[in-house]
Amino acid sequence: MTSVLVAGGATGIGRACVRALRADSVDVYLADLNVDAASEAAREDLPGRVAIGRHDLAEPDAPRDAVAAALAAFGRLDGVIVTAGLHVVAPVEEYALPDWDRTMAVNVRAPFLFAQAAAAPLAQTGGSIVLTGSTAAFRGSRGTFAYAASKGALVSLTRSLAVELGPRGVRVNCVCPGWIDTPFNDPYWSMQPDPEGALAQVVSRIPVGRQGEPVDVAGLIVFLVGPGAAYLTGQSIIVDGGLLSA
Ligand SMILES: NC(=O)c1ccc[n+]([C@@H]2O[C@H](COP(=O)([O-])OP(=O)(O)OC[C@H]3O[C@@H](n4cnc5c(N)ncnc54)[C@H](O)[C@@H]3O)[C@@H](O)[C@H]2O)c1
Repeated sequence: MTSVLVAGGATGIGRACVRALRADSVDVYLADLNVDAASEAAREDLPGRVAIGRHDLAEPDAPRDAVAAALAAFGRLDGVIVTAGLHVVAPVEEYALPDWDRTMAVNVRAPFLFAQAAAAPLAQTGGSIVLTGSTAAFRGSRGTFAYAASKGALVSLTRSLAVELGPRGVRVNCVCPGWIDTPFNDPYWSMQPDPEGALAQVVSRIPVGRQGEPVDVAGLIVFLVGPGAAYLTGQSIIVDGGLLSA
């Protein structure tokens, strides 16, 4: 494995994937909307090379452009990791159509378009795709409509892509994180009247007794994208410190 595209690698789980891959001398194309954070990630002194590009994954052409840019940068593609995601919370009657549409575009359509654009180059290298779902695919919560629906759709999409692309030598898997300490949840914590109390309540429901760190999820993603997972495809693996088991 020498060259991987990480879509959403500027912060959080994606950034931890970029770091782990580059530490292992893998070249990374980092596609993200947040070029400041992506540039910061790119400045980390690690053996793998990195190229960054600004891509808004809500735009239908963005996945194809990102795949083309990754191929132009490194000449081959061994993996595509999609961690970019959008979460809008609102009461059911107030849930705005543009928020529904953008969430679906970023969280489900873009991963599908990545698979469409990357299938041929990944088939050449025996490469692999890893998508990022959520425990929200398996349990409901208030105000989480488009997000939960999109993450549930990713679990189904993963299976169909795995069936279609398996015979071409391309594996497709999905990781479903629980509560991970990244900027993703900042809007949620800032909405809470007592953020520290709310965090303590969340943590009390997690059997391992803490939120996950980005690296806890990145370890699984990097394993899934690589040759150690050669017989693993179509799976959605929950990484939640035991939350859904409790
Ligand atoms: N943090 C959690 O608790 C948690 C829990 C379950 C699932 N997840 C999922 O994990 C994934 C990664 O989340 P994270 O926690 O690392 O969050 P994060 O906010 O740190 O990272 C998300 C990245 O995606 C990028 N991004 C967002 N919209 C984009 C767009 N339209 N185009 C291009 N890039 C875009 C952001 O700039 C950012 O770099 C998401 O799909 C999220 O749904 C996170």
